Amino acid sequence: MRPTAAPPATDVDVLLESEEQRQILEHDARSGLTASPKWLPPKYFYDDAGSVLFEEITRLPEYYPTRAEHALLNGVAADIAAAADAEVLVELGSGSSEKTRLLLDAMTDAGALTQYVPVDVSLGALRAAVPQLRQFYPELAIRGVVADFDRHLAHLPGEGRRLVALLGSTLGNYPPLPRGEFLGGLAATLNDGDTLLLGLDLVKDAGRLVAAYDDAAAVTAAFNRNVLHVLNGELGADFDPMAFDHVALWDSENEWIEMRLRAQAPMTVTIPALSLTIELAAGEEIRTEISAKFRRERIARELEAVGLRLEGWWSDDAGDYALALARR
Ligand code: SAH
Ligand code: AVI
Repeated sequence: MRPTAAPPATDVDVLLESEEQRQILEHDARSGLTASPKWLPPKYFYDDAGSVLFEEITRLPEYYPTRAEHALLNGVAADIAAAADAEVLVELGSGSSEKTRLLLDAMTDAGALTQYVPVDVSLGALRAAVPQLRQFYPELAIRGVVADFDRHLAHLPGEGRRLVALLGSTLGNYPPLPRGEFLGGLAATLNDGDTLLLGLDLVKDAGRLVAAYDDAAAVTAAFNRNVLHVLNGELGADFDPMAFDHVALWDSENEWIEMRLRAQAPMTVTIPALSLTIELAAGEEIRTEISAKFRRERIARELEAVGLRLEGWWSDDAGDYALALARR
């Protein structure tokens, strides 16, 4: 999570300095681990090891969203590029930017694109992605930015008509209220002519959903436990990650997947950087992620509530996944 070495200035810009990142982590860990029930925000999955585990997840047979979004983009990226007619692509939570290349190809073919701004909280992910992208797109200005999109939306670079993209259904990692606040913040940064592209995993059969978050090879379990490794490394905590079971369940009322870590036995965990000791009972759970699944009408309403209009909607034949384009 924390940058381990200062990147070369040409590689990525850092809006999120390690000191600020550290303070936010301390605040989040204290509020989540002293709450009842306990919880941790999902952004702490993504240190270097977690970003690699996420990439492994995207290749699992059970984790269909990445393949579904890739296939969909393959078919409709040209339509999106035409509708957005953007000069700048700003991508929030860009990770490896692998699928984004379909969009970059279509947008450069369409002719207007001059700049790509991948934004991620993970310096490691950006440092792996940006040099490769520069090789593929030598004509584009590519400016990686380490930032927390919960905090830095108003400060993201990019002059000209922008397409702001949030792919991979990352929007689903917000619970409804914070999701509305985040969308409101995003809407406030969009100028006339700018567009917003959301990749959205859709509500479907519970069995497939749960399997996608509880794979046979237990990669998602390792990804889930990684948040405890992050707290151990950053805050000196003494969590034993293997003393927690990975839990993934479908909440049919809220239409979201919930990931939790369940303590196998009673335990006491000390977190020296917070001068905090916490107790967990046997079976007690820490909620680590929700992954909401979407329906067209619901997201249209949520966008409308923040002054955005759903202008384009593309979904695959199976109804598994959708891309939504919105503007003010
Ligand atoms: N868009 C990619 C990656 C999705 S994984 C894809 O579709 O495959 C989610 C990404 O968002 C990770 O790279 C993670 O580091 C990043 N991320 C999570 N929370 C973030 C935050 N608050 N600010 C910036 N990036 C964040
Ligand atoms: C990034 N995010 C949308 C992924 C998801 O599906 O919610 C993260 C993830 N968690 C478990 N597997 C993948």
